[in-house]
Parts: sequence; structure tokens; C-alpha cells
Amino acid sequence: MNYITLNNGIRVPQLGLGVWKVPNEEAEKAVVQALETGYRLIDTAKIYGNEVGVGEALAKCDVSREELFITTKVWNSDQGYESTLKAFDESLEKLGLDYVDLYLIHWPTPQYDSYVETYKALEKLYKDGRTKAIGVCNFEIEHLERIMKECEIKPSVNQVECHPYLQQKELKKFCKEHGIYLEAYSPLMNGTKVLEDPVIKEIAEQHGKTPAQVILRWHLQTDVIVIPKTVTASRMEENLAVFDFELSDVDMDKIAALDRGERHNADPNEMNVR
Ligand SMILES: NC(=O)c1ccc[n+]([C@@H]2O[C@H](COP(=O)([O-])OP(=O)(O)OC[C@H]3O[C@@H](n4cnc5c(N)ncnc54)[C@H](OP(=O)(O)O)[C@@H]3O)[C@@H](O)[C@H]2O)c1
Repeated sequence: MNYITLNNGIRVPQLGLGVWKVPNEEAEKAVVQALETGYRLIDTAKIYGNEVGVGEALAKCDVSREELFITTKVWNSDQGYESTLKAFDESLEKLGLDYVDLYLIHWPTPQYDSYVETYKALEKLYKDGRTKAIGVCNFEIEHLERIMKECEIKPSVNQVECHPYLQQKELKKFCKEHGIYLEAYSPLMNGTKVLEDPVIKEIAEQHGKTPAQVILRWHLQTDVIVIPKTVTASRMEENLAVFDFELSDVDMDKIAALDRGERHNADPNEMNVR
């Protein structure tokens, strides 16, 4: 496992497990399996409805709390200062933890104009030592600029959709310039067509790796944190086996050329579901 260091000095495994769309009952089994396979970062959210299952797995496992890196997120309907503090308490209780490692705003939902107040609640939680780092998801440059202007603590992470068909080059550059780590969600485009891309397949054949491994390796080499989701034990191993090979500059250039700005998930400026 590779570790990176956030702008506040916190160390993070560069590759973790996402558990979106994993039902609560299945989440416990999946997280136990992942921890046994060697994963240490688990990415959940209130809206995934599986914080209890994740927490049960954490309680069962032999891995020390210090080794784990647990992320959860405040949902859109809980945005606002007091409501975020309350939602955080509920998440922590469900997870059975006394702190999380990273607490994120799930979506900016700019129509409701409450992400600044919400972020101020995250700052309080951070100052109180209840989360080791704070950040955001799905924030575009204008949302990040506003947070940096109106709040005190710079976000450590911006978790956004990112894969070879949506490479987020401009946002990546902006985040890098401001010391904000980009964390790639749906890194395999939610298990869809990018895995069938002929260029990816050709590079995979050349390296004796799978298309998923090539894509995950590309993420690592572009210096982002990456959180592929799988509930399949063999894929957990496959997705973790990406630290023993390297893509050449030519491979990286070929993948860079696949960018087509294609989203699989909602557009952050239009997503306003509560
Ligand atoms: N902040 C946000 O708004 C946001 C939004 C979306 C996602 N996320 C986070 O990011 C995580 C990952 O994103 P995601 O779940 O959308 O999609 P993803 O990780 O890109 O893809 C997951 C899909 O790919 C399949 N898969 C995994 N490894 C594979 C492999 N080696 N070969 C072939 N197929 C493979 C999985 O199937 P099986 O599970 O059946 O094996 C699953 O259907 C989420 O779980 C969540 O934690 C955050």
C-alpha cells in the first residue's frame, strides 16, 4: 500500500474500498473481507445506509483503529450548521466509533446555498478532534473558491467522479495548486464501458494485468486517492494488486487521450436531491 499525506499532515492509504450500493447486511461481510485482504481505507456515507454494517465489521476485525482510515459524509438534507453536527453524531454512533478520519460534504447542492454553513460545522468537528480531516465531494472550482474565501480551514480532500472518460484535468490542477487532494470516485466508471475500452484492454494485455488494474494504476500515477467498490472477494484482491507494475509515459499519454468529459453520475451543479 502506498500512503499519501494530506495538507494537515494526516496519512491516508492511496487506495481504499467504496461501499456505495452495498446493503447494510452485505456491508459487514464485504468490509471484513476487505480488511482481511489488506484494505485500510473504507469510504461510506450516511445516504448509503450501511454505516451500521461497516461499523460491525470494524468492531470485529483485528486491525487497530490507528491503522484504519474511515470516511463518511453529511447528506444533502442534513446541510446547515446544527443539522450537520447532529448528523455527524448519528453517523459516529452507527459506525460505533469515537472519531472518523475524514468527514465530507456529499454534494454542494448550490441551489440551497448551505454548503458554507455546513462546512463551518465540519470545521468545528475538526477542531474538536472528532474527525482527523475534513473535505468535500463533487465541488467544482467555484465552490472550492468560496469555501476558501469564507471559511478558515482549507479542505483536505475533494472527492469527485474521475476515470479515463472524465479525467477532471482542470479541477485536478486547481486542487494540486491549493494543496487539496483529489479523491477519485467511480474510478472504474461504476464498472461500465471504460473497462471494455480497446486502448485500456491493449495496455492491460501488454502488462499481463486486467483493464481494472490498468485504470487503478493510472489513477495512482496521476497522484489521486482512489476508492474502487467491489463486494467480490477476487476483485478486492485484483484491485489491490496494482503496486507491482508501472505504466510507461506512452501508456499514460494513451490514457490521457481517452478523456471525453463523460459523466456517469450527476452533474454537481444540477444535483439537488435531498
Ligand atoms: N461522493 C460521491 O458523491 C460518490 C459518488 C459515487 C461513488 N462514491 C464512492 O466511490 C466508490 C466507488 O465508486 P462506484 O461504486 O460508483 O464505482 P466503481 O468503483 O467505479 O465501480 C464499481 C463497480 O465495478 C465493479 N468492479 C469492481 N472491481 C472490478 C474489477 N476488478 N473488474 C470488473 N468490475 C469490477 C463492481 O462490481 P462488484 O461489486 O459486483 O464486484 C461494481 O459494479 C463508491 O462505492 C463510493 O464509496 C462517492
